Amino acid sequence: MQPIEKLESEKIVAKNQIALQTVMNKLQLINKELSVREGRILIHNISGRIKEPNSIKVKLRKKGCEENYETALEVINDIIGARAVCYYMDDLYLVADVLNTHKDMEIIKIKNYMEHPKKTGYRSLHLIVKLMIPYGGKQEMVKVEIQLRTFAMDYWAVLDHQLRYKKENTDNDSEKIEKELMDYADSLESIDKKMMKLRNKIAKI
Ligand code: GTP
Ligand code: MG
Repeated sequence: MQPIEKLESEKIVAKNQIALQTVMNKLQLINKELSVREGRILIHNISGRIKEPNSIKVKLRKKGCEENYETALEVINDIIGARAVCYYMDDLYLVADVLNTHKDMEIIKIKNYMEHPKKTGYRSLHLIVKLMIPYGGKQEMVKVEIQLRTFAMDYWAVLDHQLRYKKENTDNDSEKIEKELMDYADSLESIDKKMMKLRNKIAKI
C-alpha cells in the first residue's frame, strides 16, 4: 500500500492533468459536432478540477476507508472531475450518447439524478468513465467523473453548496431549510421542462 501523497507525485499529477484535459477537450469537440447536427449550441460552459489530496483523505475517512493511494483510486470516482453545463434537459442525453460512442472511453457507471433526484433535490447526470490515455509509452486507464447539468441544475447546486456550511450550523430550522431547498429544486425542474417545451414549440413555427 502506498501513501495518499503519491497523488502529488509529478507523474501522477501529469497523468491526471492529461486525463482531465482530454475529457474537457472531448466535451468541447462534442459541442462542435452537436451544434452542427442540432443547429444550435448545446453546452454553455465546461469546467474541470482535480481533487486535492486533503479532500481525498477527508472523503476516505467519511466513507470509513483506509487512507492510502490504492483505496483512493478504487473508491473515489471523482479524483478527476469535469462538468458541462448545458442549455436544456435533453441536451444532457445527447452529450452522453456521443460520449458513449468514443472508443477510448468506457462509461462504467451512470448516476441519473435527473430521473432520480437525490433527497436534497440535487439533479444532474453523472457519468463515471474509464479513459485510456497514452502515457510513458503505454496506454494507461484513468477514471473520471463527468457531471452534465442544465443551467438551472447548476445554479441550484452551486447555491446549495454555498449554503451547506450554514445549513450544518442550524439545528431547529435545518429541516425547514432542507425542505425549502428541495422545493426550489423542484421549481427549477419545472422551469427547465417548460423551457424545453417552449424551445420545441418555437422550432416548429
Ligand atoms: P460524494 O461523496 O458527495 O462525491 O458522493 P458520491 O461519491 O456517492 O457521488 P454522487 O454522485 O452522489 O455525488 C458526486 C458529486 O455530485 C458531489 O461531489 C457533488 O459535486 C455533487 N452532488 C451530489 N449531491 C449533491 C447535493 O446534494 N448538493 C450539491 N450541491 N452537489 C451534490
Ligand atoms: Mg464530489
